[in-house]
Amino acid sequence: MSKYKKEKRAQFSSKFGVIAAAAGSAVGLGNIWKFPYITGKFGGAAFLLVYICFIAIIGVSIMLSEFIIGRRSKKNAYGAYKKLAPKTKWKYVGLLGIIAAILIMAFYVVVAGWTIEYVVAAIGNKFANQTPEQLNAMYADFVDAPFRPLLYQLIFMIITAGVIIAGVKNGIERGSKFMMPLLLVIILILDIRAITLPGAAAGLEFLFKPDFSKLSSDAILSALGHAFFSLSIGTGTLTTYGSYINKKNNLVRTTVDVTIADTVVAILAGVAILPAVFSFGINPSEGPGLVFVTLPNIFLQIKGGYIFSVLFFVLLALAALTSAISILEVIVAYFSEELKMKRKAATIWSSVIILLAGTICSLSMGPYDSLTIGGLNLFDATDWLSTNILLPIGGMFMSLFVGWKLGKDEVMDELAQGSHIKMCFVKIFIFITKFIAPLAILAVFLHGLGII
Ligand code: TRP
Repeated sequence: MSKYKKEKRAQFSSKFGVIAAAAGSAVGLGNIWKFPYITGKFGGAAFLLVYICFIAIIGVSIMLSEFIIGRRSKKNAYGAYKKLAPKTKWKYVGLLGIIAAILIMAFYVVVAGWTIEYVVAAIGNKFANQTPEQLNAMYADFVDAPFRPLLYQLIFMIITAGVIIAGVKNGIERGSKFMMPLLLVIILILDIRAITLPGAAAGLEFLFKPDFSKLSSDAILSALGHAFFSLSIGTGTLTTYGSYINKKNNLVRTTVDVTIADTVVAILAGVAILPAVFSFGINPSEGPGLVFVTLPNIFLQIKGGYIFSVLFFVLLALAALTSAISILEVIVAYFSEELKMKRKAATIWSSVIILLAGTICSLSMGPYDSLTIGGLNLFDATDWLSTNILLPIGGMFMSLFVGWKLGKDEVMDELAQGSHIKMCFVKIFIFITKFIAPLAILAVFLHGLGII
């Protein structure tokens, strides 16, 4: 039995609700917008392979660690450490995660806003009769014009905040349940069209035939960061969701299901986009605009492309929404439980902070793109700092926490609720959390920063 005080807390109502919410968090812009463009930037297959290794070795164990910390404590990402390790410094791991969550939201809402622009463009049939060059110009003009991206970012933030104010069950669960399978079907249709385009073979080769000489230390660090970003780990998002999961749920199963779903969607998105990039003569290292420039070209090559383009961008915006609510929930749960704010006030204040930071990120894609830090504009710099640095550091400490502080017996006790777990599995898991995951993260860091 647990030695901690029993606590009543809002909970997901069904097992399917848990999977849907956690998968809804993981599957988002990271899979469909970010994965293809960074795979393009870092040279394709070798990057993909390293990414998959990081998911399998580090990602899975840290996701499970977050669920354990959350369900065991039934607290927000900061309060969890105060409860499980009172009067220690571990709570700063939670705080770091909340800062990372704010930074991630700052650029996430910008791109989520773009998806709304593309919904509107798709409905207005704006892609029709356009050449690849014109579609490229359409994207460039849009991000450059200061007003519309900011307007859509604001609209997206208001919708996200609205869902959060509506509460855990009603908002998050209902929203995630039925959209994802439909999105998957549309991506599969895009895949089929993309790989049958003339010249698509070069794209498939790029994606699946590794050339390790292209693999820079920057690419390895980015593969690590993206593994965290895509699985929604490192900020306490899944710690917070874990706190809403009841004891009948099998945490190991949930972790495996969510990881597989997330990775499959990313690879399928890559198969839809990279072959088309080669076929249309687009530069694979084009950057954040890659998906927005490439996909409209594919829709023009499909019968019923109009309908598919509308559906696709609507579902992409919804996938962004289910991810954004999960990030916002971390911040709101912290503000409301630790700083004792009302949930509504907590949501409004965190949204205001995010919008201020988001405005800077948005403007740095257009009018202020000459403002750079280390060669990156402020959008890319915010992404780099939060994704490649803060998430892995957060994850490393979460892993150390589960391995060294909670330890074998508590982990066994927690995992045994809702599943038939074997002690040897727990031992392997503890070994990974104590040594393998933290050391691997450290090694990638030192290598990425040029120290080894
Ligand atoms: N995983 C989401 C995506 O791929 C984004 C996301 C949601 C996230 N919650 C997170 C990223 C927590 C980092 C941390 O789009």
